[in-house]
Amino acid sequence: MKRFEMLANTMADEIRSGSRPVGSRMPSLRHLTTQHGVSQSTVFRAYYLLEEWGLIRARERSGYYVAPGAALEHKPAPQPPAALESAKVEISDLVFSVLEAAKHPNVVPFGSAFPSPQLFPLQRLARSLGHSSRLISPWSTVVDLPPGNEPLRRQISLRYMGMGIAQPMEQLVVTNGALEALNLCLMAVTRPGDVVAIESPGFYAALQAIERLDLRAVEIPVDPVSGIDLQALSDALDKHPIRACWFMTNYQNPTGAAMSQEKKKALVELLAERDVPLIEDDVYGELHHAATYPLPAIAFDTKGLVMHCSSFSKTLAPGYRIGWVAAGRFAEKVQRLKLMTTLSASIPAQAAIADYLQHGGYDKHLRKLRGAFRNQLASMDTALRRYMPEDSHWTLPSGGYFLWLRLPSHVDAMQLHRLALENGISIAPGPIFSARHEFRNHIRLNFGHPWSDNTESAVQTLASLLEQASR
Ligand SMILES: Cc1ncc(COP(=O)(O)O)c(C=O)c1O
Repeated sequence: MKRFEMLANTMADEIRSGSRPVGSRMPSLRHLTTQHGVSQSTVFRAYYLLEEWGLIRARERSGYYVAPGAALEHKPAPQPPAALESAKVEISDLVFSVLEAAKHPNVVPFGSAFPSPQLFPLQRLARSLGHSSRLISPWSTVVDLPPGNEPLRRQISLRYMGMGIAQPMEQLVVTNGALEALNLCLMAVTRPGDVVAIESPGFYAALQAIERLDLRAVEIPVDPVSGIDLQALSDALDKHPIRACWFMTNYQNPTGAAMSQEKKKALVELLAERDVPLIEDDVYGELHHAATYPLPAIAFDTKGLVMHCSSFSKTLAPGYRIGWVAAGRFAEKVQRLKLMTTLSASIPAQAAIADYLQHGGYDKHLRKLRGAFRNQLASMDTALRRYMPEDSHWTLPSGGYFLWLRLPSHVDAMQLHRLALENGISIAPGPIFSARHEFRNHIRLNFGHPWSDNTESAVQTLASLLEQASR
């Protein structure tokens, strides 16, 4: 990339994120030449490019101003055109090295994928485990084979009903966590070499599954507030023989984006027109910070094309590894694949969760958990405002426990990850969420742990490492 293009991209980022509001005056030529150590012609060329992109407008004898059409607050940085190319994925080494580093219990877990275990009702769950194990029939090893424990599927089906979604127990398959559900769905609707649409940035396990099943990925840009770009998806569907989409509709990992009901409906309709299955990853849906559950996309499905995957890993019992999929017209195929791959989910764990859902006060626990995340997000936000430089940017998610932080463009997130670890802090660097290792100046921060002085000073330390982590 040439210098003027780099400069234009940095400023486009600032405009799209809202750091430079519509109507505000752009910096003078002199200011930019000294600030960036570039020539006047580089600045001119950058400004011409921004004008071409519709982001700024010249006013006679007054300079450049942010154009009204640029009111795309929180838009991610422009994706390179290659984002709509399908590509083979190689992400695992990078992900494994980051995950391994974050395992140590003494490390401040900003990079962790889980909330604090202190927030889960582990003792009450243990009672359900003890109680239900004593009642387990010797025949359950056979009876509870896929699709899975019947009382558990009934409880899950009731929860769908509570949202106004009719989801018959027969279409629910219990799995080892949502991750297995997602993988089985992908296997059910693709063959090696097929093209799958995924999010960018997106959950690294989708990239790993694509890598493992020898598929090809088309990355669809995600807006950190409103989710995937439907126009880009529509263009990608025109251009590629996309066999399936794997998207998060609520509190996307890593950005925290949540799609509106209208957008979910439009997404389901777009895919239905082309008969493309949607693998909907909704593991954070129950963790809405506001009062009501945001309907998932499956609520708008009339063709059985949406496979809604979720689990209890983020809300109740991470170690039990109980998830499920409401698999629509693919339920039987998914069930067979489940039998062929891992046979069954743990039978005592299924029974324990069924008992807890029936008698343990799950909704009360969820209300408490959501309240804790809301407060912890407020503390994280305050700390970031206090310590991070002005040209960093984040949006406040309306659910879940991840915050996507865009750092000044000179910061290299991989370097920051190494330096942070040396200081006892884990972070999830942006490149692990992209097939092309993009988002080099982004990090995902976990706020799912009770706030403390230690966490506060970890944010301060992170901020102090930014200069050292320069590219
Ligand atoms: C977006 C997303 N989907 C799925 C999973 C996996 O969920 P489970 O632990 O239930 O397999 C995770 C866990 O990190 C996740 O972040």
